[in-house]
Amino acid sequence: GEQPLQILQLSGRRWLAIAQCVSRILEQYDEFKLHFEISDDYTGYALSNFCIPRHYEGDLENVLIPWGLIQDRTERLARDIFHEIKDEPLTALCVLKGGYRFYTDLLDKLTTLNRFHASVSVPLHVDFIRLKSYENDDSTGKIRVIGGDNLNNLRNRNVLVVEDIIDTGRTMERLLAILKEHEPKSVKVASLLVKRRPDSTGYRPDYCGFEVPDRFVVGYALDYNEYFRDLNHICVINDSGKEKYKIPL
Ligand code: HPA
Ligand code: MG
Repeated sequence: GEQPLQILQLSGRRWLAIAQCVSRILEQYDEFKLHFEISDDYTGYALSNFCIPRHYEGDLENVLIPWGLIQDRTERLARDIFHEIKDEPLTALCVLKGGYRFYTDLLDKLTTLNRFHASVSVPLHVDFIRLKSYENDDSTGKIRVIGGDNLNNLRNRNVLVVEDIIDTGRTMERLLAILKEHEPKSVKVASLLVKRRPDSTGYRPDYCGFEVPDRFVVGYALDYNEYFRDLNHICVINDSGKEKYKIPL
């Protein structure tokens, strides 16, 4: 009859309000944020579909994330950052060298949002830090700050660390400990990639582009012993590529 239907509609509306409220609360916690997940059995795109520099043709297994998709996802991350940080000045800290392409594309998209929004804006400062932690495809376990701006500039600033990849999580945890010593007002982390690794520390960034399988990836400024930064797409390196560009021990 009519009565039960009315009750159903009322409680439906109420449930919707409650559900929206709960989802807004849950969104504040990283583990409930939506992730762009690339599954372990995903084999990517064939290299022949794309333009690959001739000097890398034999060194790659597949295209995991094409350049255009990186752009589209970065646009969304920029929007999320813009609306969460709105009206506070932000210091975007690029982790060199691997983060430089993600950094420039993310900042391009943030400055576009600044131009297009008349009522909201995020004043931006740029800053750089250079770390070293990898040789061949093994993490050496240590990180060194080997360059960049004076970290004392970060005092009382809202800092957004922009990184290419969270692998085990140890590099980022160490970097965050170093940054804290310089007393920033707040620190958030945007990482283009997060690798699913069994030996992860469990660290999750505030903003994550793609969660990827435990494969060694290169391109879009991610390197293997300084090679492959000049490749547009994010690709999986193959065994012959690893061998060709190995540092002799
Ligand atoms: N590729 C390039 N650099 C990296 C990776 C990777 O998979 N993991 C940590 N640093
Ligand atoms: Mg590297």
